[in-house]
Amino acid sequence: MNLLLGVNIDHVATLRQARYALNADAPIVEPSILEAAREAQAGGADSITIHVREDRRHMQMEDAFELKREIDLPINLEMANTAEMLAFALKLKPTFVCIVPESREEVTTEGGLDVVGHLNALTDTVRALQEADIKVSLFIDPETSQIKAASELGVEMIELHTGAFALAEGEARAAELKRLQKGSLRAKDLNLQVNAGHGIHYENLEEIFGVKNLVELNIGHCLISRAMFVGLRQAVAEMRQAMQGYQGGVS
Ligand code: PXP
Repeated sequence: MNLLLGVNIDHVATLRQARYALNADAPIVEPSILEAAREAQAGGADSITIHVREDRRHMQMEDAFELKREIDLPINLEMANTAEMLAFALKLKPTFVCIVPESREEVTTEGGLDVVGHLNALTDTVRALQEADIKVSLFIDPETSQIKAASELGVEMIELHTGAFALAEGEARAAELKRLQKGSLRAKDLNLQVNAGHGIHYENLEEIFGVKNLVELNIGHCLISRAMFVGLRQAVAEMRQAMQGYQGGVS
């Protein structure tokens, strides 16, 4: 099976908010989130990922509803486990929800979700989402205890946090890659779909290929960055093309 590509377009909204956060009704508000999603789709995106954060620093709830109405691709909503976001997700009904940890001070999601420490709070959320036919993923570090807890919760998927690997160098990098490899094998044994995301780049993709059983990669920052020079459609198409090299997928 081909490795799937979820394109995170949060940073298109980051740019829009930089100018229009206080002027959302201005005659021209750009760049367009819808156009970005359409360009990502034209480049070969398999799904569109957005994170509506508590502080609304980029995506707004209205963006999510508009994408859901207008775009013919699965929507993957990243959200914190809060009552507000759960109510929103149940209204939006995206195809997938990926539950992520969130803190106001962070620039981007910094670590994996502590599933072990929040088992009770997660149980009700996961159940409510699944009852609404929304598939649930948990964004976690590649640690056995977290993977087991995810499995016990009965989620369909996990997304392995590749951020530590992406930032590490030398021996630490090799160790992080090994953790991802082991984590993926463990998760597959527990019948979890294994996705991965954070800090994945054209330049570290081949190393990520060393992780078996991956089904989907969620990629944002590097695609939006490259899009400034070649356009989003081409940036996504280049990533899609590079992802064809993955040999370790589930059959
Ligand atoms: N997956 C999750 C859960 C994330 O929070 C993010 C960042 O928003 C990504 C993937 C994409 O990471 P990047 O922007 O580094 O490609």
